[in-house]
Amino acid sequence: MFVGNKDELEMNNKMGKIILIGAGCGDPELLTLKAVRVLKTADVVLYDALVSKEVLGFVNPQAEQISVGKKGHGESCRQVDINSMMVKFALEGKKVVRLKGGDPLIFSRAAEEMEAAKEANIPVEIVSGITTAQAVAATLGFPLTHRESARRLQFVTGHDHKGSLPEGLDWQALADKNATTVIYMPKKTLAAMSKRLQEFGLPADTHTLAVMDATMPTQKIITGTIATLPQSVENANMEGAVLVVIGSVTNI
Ligand SMILES: C[S@@+](CC[C@H](N)C(=O)[O-])C[C@H]1O[C@@H](n2cnc3c(N)ncnc32)[C@H](O)[C@@H]1O
Repeated sequence: MFVGNKDELEMNNKMGKIILIGAGCGDPELLTLKAVRVLKTADVVLYDALVSKEVLGFVNPQAEQISVGKKGHGESCRQVDINSMMVKFALEGKKVVRLKGGDPLIFSRAAEEMEAAKEANIPVEIVSGITTAQAVAATLGFPLTHRESARRLQFVTGHDHKGSLPEGLDWQALADKNATTVIYMPKKTLAAMSKRLQEFGLPADTHTLAVMDATMPTQKIITGTIATLPQSVENANMEGAVLVVIGSVTNI
């Protein structure tokens, strides 16, 4: 695999390439200038379900746009098929964009995609995006770290590949009340997560919030404590993408 800068990659222009781009987490203005520049010259764009149509509006109108969206554990394009498509188009000499929600290196199967490119000797470029945790904090106006009360920031997935609470998490660290813990994909396991965190010593009254569709017109916020939030989220019937943030910084 080749991870390099733009100039080095341009020198290699006879071969196609794969560019993993972060689309930010909803609001199209969260897209970076670099992302927009690359989207405008892409030949093929494989995009996720969480990428908005406004963001797709920046794509080169001549480019082929393919939805490869995966929604939780429902109907989806298999990861191996996405990898094969990316590689096939790049071997045809095309500039292939893999467009993902948030940042492309956070909970987004980037490792497998980079590995597939490496096996096929295809150069890869990565364009960072605003991950959901950052966008949520900025939108709601709270810091993710605090010099007295949140000295560690930890991102964790709420479920494993089967949709269950992941085994092998460092529960002691996650239950640290002096940390900010962000749970991506929390919906299926929030109640179990809350219970486990309290068993490991996280105080029941620790401030916690959930945000659905952050930065979008459909955004919904629920605040509470680690003890109360699971029930509140269930009652709210949140159908969109949800992020949970735990820790004193969420006392907004
Ligand atoms: C597969 S992960 C991708 C994360 C993404 N790469 C990022 O950096 O934000 C999908 C999860 O991200 C979170 N997410 C993405 N967009 C969101 C949004 N607009 N509002 C709330 N949560 C979001 C949810 O937890 C969702 O289940």
